[in-house]
Amino acid sequence: MPLQIQLSSSEPTGAACDYLAVCVHAGVLDRQKPVSTLNRALAGALFEQAKRADFQAKPEQTLEMSTAGRIKAKTVLLVGVGSSDKVDGVVMRAVAAIAARAANAGSAKVLGFCPPERPDLRALGEGLELGAYRFVKYLTGDRRPKTKLGKVVLLVAGKPRVSDRRALDIGQRIGEAVNMARDAVNEPPNALYPASLAALARQVARQHRLRIRVLERPAILRAGMKLLYAVGQGSAHEPRFIHLSYVPKRSRGKLAFVGKGLTFDSGGLSIKPAPGMGEMKADMGGAAAVLGLMGAVGVVRPPVEVHGLIGSAENMPDGAAYRPGDVFGSLSGKTVEIINTDAEGRLVLADVLSYASRLKPDVVLDAATLTGAMVVALGKTCAGYYATDDALAQRLETAAREAGESFWRMPLLEELTEQLKSDVADLKHTGERYAGAITAALFLREFVAKVPWIHCDIAGTAFTEKARSIHPKGGTAHALLTFLRFVENTAKR
Ligand code: BES
Ligand code: MN
Ligand code: ZN
Repeated sequence: MPLQIQLSSSEPTGAACDYLAVCVHAGVLDRQKPVSTLNRALAGALFEQAKRADFQAKPEQTLEMSTAGRIKAKTVLLVGVGSSDKVDGVVMRAVAAIAARAANAGSAKVLGFCPPERPDLRALGEGLELGAYRFVKYLTGDRRPKTKLGKVVLLVAGKPRVSDRRALDIGQRIGEAVNMARDAVNEPPNALYPASLAALARQVARQHRLRIRVLERPAILRAGMKLLYAVGQGSAHEPRFIHLSYVPKRSRGKLAFVGKGLTFDSGGLSIKPAPGMGEMKADMGGAAAVLGLMGAVGVVRPPVEVHGLIGSAENMPDGAAYRPGDVFGSLSGKTVEIINTDAEGRLVLADVLSYASRLKPDVVLDAATLTGAMVVALGKTCAGYYATDDALAQRLETAAREAGESFWRMPLLEELTEQLKSDVADLKHTGERYAGAITAALFLREFVAKVPWIHCDIAGTAFTEKARSIHPKGGTAHALLTFLRFVENTAKR
C-alpha cells in the first residue's frame, strides 16, 4: 500500500501529525520562516538544541527533538538541504527518505513534512516511499512493529495543481517499484528461487502491461544457453530465463538490461566458507534491479523500447553439479573451461548477454553482484562500472548523478585478457586473484558481440548492513534508479 499523501497549507506548528520533519537550508536559522515559527512554539528549545548539536543543515544532516507536548507532533526532525537556493531532485529524494525512515523508527503513523520551496515533487514522492520501506514479513509477535507510517501531510503553500499531484503519484509508484525489488532481495532463498522469481516477473508484467517470455530448464537447453543450464544443474530448483519487454508505439531508441539472478550462491563444489554465506541470497540483486526497472518503466512509459533480461539459477554442490574442469559450449558458440564453480555469475551473464546482443539494441547494460574484488575495491556504498566507450560512460555518469546513486568507472585493461586463455577451450572463466573484478568484466565482454555495453558490478551495494540516505538496511535495489534515468535520458536524446 502506498503512503496516503495529503496536501495541506496549514502552518507546521498546527499540522495534524505525530511526527514533524522540516527541511532546513544552511545559514541563519532565524531567517527561515517555518523553523523560526517552530522555534517560538517550542519556547526557543529548537535553536538551543541546534546550536548544541552543531546542526549546520548540511545535506542529509538531521536533528531530532521531543516537542514536550508544545505542539501536536510529539517529535520534530530538522533535515538539512544544504546551501543552494533550489534544492535538486537528488537532495529532495534523500531528505524525504530520511524523514520517512525516522518517522517509522519513531513509531509515527502520520508524518508532517515541510519541504523546501518549489520542491521536485516526483523526487519527493519517490523519497517518501523509499524511506518508509521495511522488510517485516517474517516478524511475528513482539518482533512485529505495532505501528506503520501510513500517511504524510505535505505542508505546501498555495493551491496544489493537478500536475503536482501527478508528479507525486508517479514518484510514489516508482518508489513502489524499487521497494518491490528490495523485497525480492530480502526474501529468503527458500522462498525466492528461480521459479518464484519468474512468477514475480509475471506479476510485474501483468501489473504494468509488459510482454513476458519465460524459459524453463528444457527450453533453456534447447535455446542453447548451455552456461546458464550448467550453473543450475546442481540444484533441486531449476533455472529460469526471463525476458520482459516494453515496446511503445513510438520509440526513440532500444535498450536491453541484463540482471544476474542467482537466488542463492553457495559457491557450488568450490563451496564458500560458512561465515556470510547467507548473504548470498542477495546474489540476485542485479535481477531485482532489472525487474524493478521494468516496473518503473511501466509506470513512466517513455518512448524507448526496453528489454529486461534475467538469467536465474541456484548455485549448489550436488552429484549433478557442474565441476571445475568441465567444458561447456554457450549461446555465443564459444566454449568455456570451468575453473572455479563459485565464478558462476559470469557464466549465467555470458548467455544472457549473447541473447541481449541478438536483440540488436543501441546499448546493453547489465547489473550483477559479480565479484568480491569489487567490494574490496570500492566498498559498500559505490558500485563499479565498465563501459566500452567514453561517450557511453558519460551517459551512465549523468544518469547516476541524477539518480543519486554512486558509481565509479573501472578500466577494461587489455593486458589482462591473456589470463582468460585456456588450453582445452576457447576461454577459461577466471583469471588470477588480483584485478579479479576486471578479468570478470573482460570475460563478459567476450559475449556482447560489438554492441555498446555497460557492466555494473554491484556486489558491494546490492545489500548493506546499515541504512544510509535513500538506502535501507538489507536489499537496496542499487542501479535501478540509475537505469531508469538512463532510459528517460535516452528518450530525450
Ligand atoms: N556472488 C559472488 C560475488 C559476491 C561477493 C557478491 C561478495 C556479493 C558479495 C560471486 O559469484 C563470486 O563468488 N565471485 C568469486 C569469483 C572468484 C571465484 C573468481 C569471488 O569474487 O570471490
Ligand atoms: Mn559465486
Ligand atoms: Zn555469485
